[in-house]
Amino acid sequence: MFGKSALFATASAGLLSISAAQSATNGSVVTSDAPFYGQSPPTYPAPEVRRDGLFAESVAKARALVATMTLEEKVNLTGGVTNPGNGCGGNIPAVPSIGFPGMCLQDGPAGVRGTDFVSGFAAGIHTGASWNRTLAYSRANAMGGEAYRKGVSVALGPPVVGPLGRIAEGGRNWEGFSNDPYLSGALAAESVHGIQDAGVIACTKHFIANEQETNRIATRDGNKSYQSSSTNMDDKTLHELYLWPFADTVHAGTGSVMCSYERFNNSYVCQNSKLINGVLKTELGFEGFVVTDWFAQHSGVDSSLAGLDMTMPSGATYWAGNLTQAVRNGSVPETRIDDQATRILAAWYELGLDSKSSPGVGVGMAPNLLAPHTIVDARDAADAEVILGEAIEGHVLVKNVNNALPLKDPRAIALYGYDAKAPDYNAPSPGLSPWSISLQSTDAASPICGFYGLVASACPPFPINAPNGSIWVGGGSGGNTPTYFYSPFQAFSERAFQDGTQLLWDFENVNTTSTVYGNTEACFIFINAMASEGIDRSGLHDNFSDSLVNNIADQCSNTIVVVHNAGIALVDAYYDHPNVTAIILAQLPGQDSGRALVDIVYGEISPSGKLTYTVAKNESDYGAILSPYRPSAQDAIYPQDDFSEGVYIDYRAFDAQNIEPRFEFGFGLTYTNFTYSNLRISSNSSATLSQYPTDGIIPGGHADLWDVVYNVYADVKNTGEAIAAEIAQLYLGLPGNDQPIRQLRGFDKQWLDVGETVTMGFPLRRRDLSTWSVEAQQWELAPGGTYKVYVGASSRNLPLTGSFTLRGSGNGNGTAGGYWK
Ligand code: NOJ
Repeated sequence: MFGKSALFATASAGLLSISAAQSATNGSVVTSDAPFYGQSPPTYPAPEVRRDGLFAESVAKARALVATMTLEEKVNLTGGVTNPGNGCGGNIPAVPSIGFPGMCLQDGPAGVRGTDFVSGFAAGIHTGASWNRTLAYSRANAMGGEAYRKGVSVALGPPVVGPLGRIAEGGRNWEGFSNDPYLSGALAAESVHGIQDAGVIACTKHFIANEQETNRIATRDGNKSYQSSSTNMDDKTLHELYLWPFADTVHAGTGSVMCSYERFNNSYVCQNSKLINGVLKTELGFEGFVVTDWFAQHSGVDSSLAGLDMTMPSGATYWAGNLTQAVRNGSVPETRIDDQATRILAAWYELGLDSKSSPGVGVGMAPNLLAPHTIVDARDAADAEVILGEAIEGHVLVKNVNNALPLKDPRAIALYGYDAKAPDYNAPSPGLSPWSISLQSTDAASPICGFYGLVASACPPFPINAPNGSIWVGGGSGGNTPTYFYSPFQAFSERAFQDGTQLLWDFENVNTTSTVYGNTEACFIFINAMASEGIDRSGLHDNFSDSLVNNIADQCSNTIVVVHNAGIALVDAYYDHPNVTAIILAQLPGQDSGRALVDIVYGEISPSGKLTYTVAKNESDYGAILSPYRPSAQDAIYPQDDFSEGVYIDYRAFDAQNIEPRFEFGFGLTYTNFTYSNLRISSNSSATLSQYPTDGIIPGGHADLWDVVYNVYADVKNTGEAIAAEIAQLYLGLPGNDQPIRQLRGFDKQWLDVGETVTMGFPLRRRDLSTWSVEAQQWELAPGGTYKVYVGASSRNLPLTGSFTLRGSGNGNGTAGGYWK
């Protein structure tokens, strides 16, 4: 499946193979990094931002301003400073002489972090499951609005497109939308537009292949230091999988990109000239600025020359006076500093942050929430519908026997499990989240791997659930403290009040017998699967939660399981229990969690989410990429993490290895049925496929890659008895050897009345039909090859099939002459 020599780049063709790293690590302790040189080829000089690009006007203004600045002033723009006046996670200082007020950089991907009077939005995993481009835009726009009113200049996500989700137990997969690059990229592009239309610079993170928390950061243990793991990857995998969604966000005009902690082909990403100068700024034509993840800078001169533009949280370590000196002694050309400053100011102008009407920098970010402070209420009542709408659409119903759901006017229902009620408190401290709350004691007592300066061997096992209450978001920098949390218990109570229902609950004694009241018509059991930045998960299910479910199911013939899951959650421990009539993967809905759930279970609205990852029957089905790579004693100094599975992650791997999942990628039930018919495939005659590239680079790559070259349509009919939405999915089997059996290349979501038929459309762009040629360093089509088309309800329920062939010579199987660049 993997290992064709063509998969590996040659030195002249770009990123080099992993074989050198492998041989260097074979059998002996690696104490020198010499064997790794050249794997990430030097790519210089750093390209200057285009003057005629997407940000042309802003670049012109920025250049004019930069021309008036001293070297010191320009350097000041490039590095963070401590600003006791606000609570922003990162600050760029003001330059009063040019009227620049400074910048506030603040997390995060599910709402503004570490402050008050903001909303808790559905997390990335939840938004992904809605497969709803419009909602993804509106969610980001609402979040951007809150950031704007707080005085945030740069919102650090959404979008999060790295980690993509390679490692099933990855601690941060929930921050992003999906482990499929097409879906992730589509929703990420909408998010960039949403954030930036609100007047805030979007920061797409983490560039690139930051796929695990374990050993993400260089650590020290006594006298011994360990470098961050090196993500070793071939060029094809880089382009077809991990870079894909970044290209979407660059195309959407993201003003900034955050470079990640780890090394890539043995060079730290934030000083990797091939990745920043070569891939991001040249190949993708990125016009914004590159900012480090916090403390991810490892050199001064090298990182500047490699294309890094801004460092956080402090410029003092490597830049500031050192960078000025480096310019004065000729190590860094001043034109590089000019470009760094120009890119930063261009993004600032582009988003209108120079406007007099902009709120002050960090104005609503109180530095100390524990002291009385001026309240800046950043919420907008008009966003309530979007927040609830996204909370609803990310719930995924995966089992529903004999229409157990929706409930039918129940007289008595019971609620069980630690995840039904709100956590014990919502603390007003920056970054606190349900995870930190649940883990407070553990957290204080033991160091956690993946946080700054701590050692991998000291990692405690991560508790798989958050036992102190319901979770609405994961932990770490993606967490938030919304103004309220609508727990499932609260929402069920209100509904019981309205309907006159007898509600019973027991959140404590669920392991005893005889807790089930005799007239209970439905027993809801709430469990969760928690995850956080800084540490990978230690499993995809836990025995405690599974036994809670089975215990209730043993006593209650209509047991409905609700799992709030910050990542993949396995259900096989109870899936086949005859009394488990329904299972909802409720993911991370944000502050309106309970309201959304109650609307769904009472049938006020049909569930419409589908999985954005594969739920296996067993953990072992994920193979070598179930768990993070952990450095062995042998290679710990320069840990080597080889991505040898190539593009075969998640459903691509399950399909290739013919493993039957419990629930496949793209799966989700609702309260009706749909039928598919009338597949139509047509080429767009105006597209001249054989000439490429006909145009220059625009943000995202060659302009032609974004041309729609084929259109596919299918009819979908609602044949059941409820109004509901269907997410129709298009998968392509690309011609050529060593291609995944199917890859997602289109989706459409529409609401259908009972009996209604709609046409779902799937525009296919040139890039959707292309594969990356390592030799040509270009995307290529396969004329003469058969493109297989599959349309249906999930990655394994594809009732409509067809194909098309691109005209032209060549057999499309990868032999010479078979491809059009
Ligand atoms: C580290 C995290 O990796 C990143 O996502 C976050 O934006 C920064 N810390 C700032 O909090």
